[in-house]
Amino acid sequence: MSKPSILIARAVFPEVLQRLRQYFEVDDNQADEALSPAALIARLRGKQGVFSTGMERIDAEVLAACPELRICANQAVGYNNLDIATMTARGVLGTNAPDVLTETTADFGFALLMATARRITESEHYLRSGRWQRWRYDMFAGVDIHGTTLGVIGMGRIGQAIARRGAHGFGMKVIYHNRSRLDGAAEAACQARYVSKDELLRTADHVVLVVPYTPQSHHTIGAAELALMKPTATLVNIARGGIVDDAALAAALRERRIAGAGLDVFEGEPTVHPDLLTVPNVVLTPHIGSATLPTRLAMANLAADNLIGFLTGDGPLTPINPEVLDRK
Ligand code: GLV
Repeated sequence: MSKPSILIARAVFPEVLQRLRQYFEVDDNQADEALSPAALIARLRGKQGVFSTGMERIDAEVLAACPELRICANQAVGYNNLDIATMTARGVLGTNAPDVLTETTADFGFALLMATARRITESEHYLRSGRWQRWRYDMFAGVDIHGTTLGVIGMGRIGQAIARRGAHGFGMKVIYHNRSRLDGAAEAACQARYVSKDELLRTADHVVLVVPYTPQSHHTIGAAELALMKPTATLVNIARGGIVDDAALAAALRERRIAGAGLDVFEGEPTVHPDLLTVPNVVLTPHIGSATLPTRLAMANLAADNLIGFLTGDGPLTPINPEVLDRK
């Protein structure tokens, strides 16, 4: 019997490529060429699966043009690149890569929070540019982390892991806002108290965003929300571009209406709003929240497991729309 065929949309670990070749006819992209929507369709046509990175849009147009497609396996926990409603209607399975990245991404969220609060990249740029002539008592004075109030918006697995770090590692008081309240045991594990979004924005010293991107979460933080925050507060976005109104944030940073921000994700990335590039009180990183080699390998292997399990074996491990499986 011939093997099912798949497209790997971007470069992957060679060992994962080798593994996938044992099960599938593989069209790889180890050259890591950017695939336009038209090129994506051309390469995907006639194939049963796609190994996607979270950047390739699998929308109604792609799905209509590729009727043989049966699974999109995202090598990411977020899946706002997948049109799940249309996929479900067409019987196409989506899978993501949860759990394996939780602690790594929470570490990164905390790193960004600390770099922002303690002005680490801003002061490093100062040093590297040769401007450091002498020490001064208030030089790059930042804001404290220990003992302050951490506000987490989006209390899924990564949000809870950040909350645990804050409560247990830094003695922070943790408040959170989420679509639904956690149960008592989960709240106790993070020592976290549920509050409204407005109360969180008014009282938190550090606000961390970990919500999935949906039309409802678009611009969760805009000018009105930034206006509620303390002038000494920091904001960290490790969720998705579009959760924050980047233009409004740049204005708030420039006018020092909040103390600083740490951003790993951007509206329209890899393009970054030009105003963010010119304000000093923001730490900017290129969407690397889950980027350690062991975690990225685990994410890639989980996407591969999902493809292998669904197209050739016992079923996928982490389906997003399992109703597609029930229909089989
Ligand atoms: C990264 O952004 C992910 O969703 O895994």
